[in-house]
Amino acid sequence: MDDNIHDRPVVLITGCSTGGIGHALARAFAARSCTVVATSRSRSSMVDLEQDPRFFLQELDVLSDESVQRTLQNVVGKYGRIDVLVNNAGVQCVGPLAEVPLSDIQHTFDTKIAGSLRLIQAVVPHMATRKQGKIVNIGSVTAMAPGPWSGAYTASKSALHALSDTLRLELRHFGIDVVTVVPGAVKSNIANSAIASYNRMPEWKLFKPFEAVIRDRAYFSQKSKSTPSDEFAKHTVDAIMKKNPPAWFSSGEYSFIMNIMYYLPLFIRDLILRKAMKC
Ligand SMILES: NC(=O)c1ccc[n+]([C@@H]2O[C@H](COP(=O)([O-])OP(=O)(O)OC[C@H]3O[C@@H](n4cnc5c(N)ncnc54)[C@H](OP(=O)(O)O)[C@@H]3O)[C@@H](O)[C@H]2O)c1
Repeated sequence: MDDNIHDRPVVLITGCSTGGIGHALARAFAARSCTVVATSRSRSSMVDLEQDPRFFLQELDVLSDESVQRTLQNVVGKYGRIDVLVNNAGVQCVGPLAEVPLSDIQHTFDTKIAGSLRLIQAVVPHMATRKQGKIVNIGSVTAMAPGPWSGAYTASKSALHALSDTLRLELRHFGIDVVTVVPGAVKSNIANSAIASYNRMPEWKLFKPFEAVIRDRAYFSQKSKSTPSDEFAKHTVDAIMKKNPPAWFSSGEYSFIMNIMYYLPLFIRDLILRKAMKC
């Protein structure tokens, strides 16, 4: 084991490709004197962190048991522990629910739900032995008021919020805090990957007339007002690093309005969403 890292919290983050929220979180944790296990599917997407000793780079695909186990072995072997797990990796899935291929819906849930649980089940025994740890699940404000054209993604985020609530109650017995982070619109690569997968969708049948507005949903979180990822990451890491972190932390453009939307009568919420999403 390395000698000089005993006092620094060890933080493992999934989905740290340059330009995304995970990468910004990795840098924000490092700025708070953490040792950051920055992971992504390909090391080449994190080359800018390569020479910085605050980062331990690992290739990790959240869809693979083998990949998760190998990373955990490497991290526990090197540092002896994991203090914070951030389940950040996720994929957008744009399209009308009645026509999106089930395989795409499955992939969205596999990545966000099975992927997060795969990491959680791997780290909890280590955290429970030490009677301390933090698990951070990155949800989304879209689940506060589900709108059209991204139903699979939104449902996966709602499911993640529910899992977080259960885990918070179950894991408190082992000294493990569970934090649901709920971003608003934050600058990242999400629109690029969303449009790449959208371009592989079959041609819509019933929804052909809505093609332009459906496609536009891929860019919804990436407008000029979207919060810079560094700003979002700094506020988020400040909240997570508190001795008693909040159970729920929401920040970023539209987060306030979406949290209000949650409490509106459904007919008012639907009116607003129909206008905003041209539905
Ligand atoms: N940006 C927003 O406005 C916003 C709003 C609400 C919630 N969020 C959530 O924030 C999180 C980060 O998204 P982002 O906006 O930063 O998007 P992003 O730039 O597209 O980042 C997503 C990250 O997840 C990784 N990923 C996808 N599938 C993976 C897998 N099987 N295993 C490991 N990593 C995988 C991607 O890796 P590759 O680079 O290899 O594809 C990428 O690093 C997601 O959970 C997203 O739903 C974002």
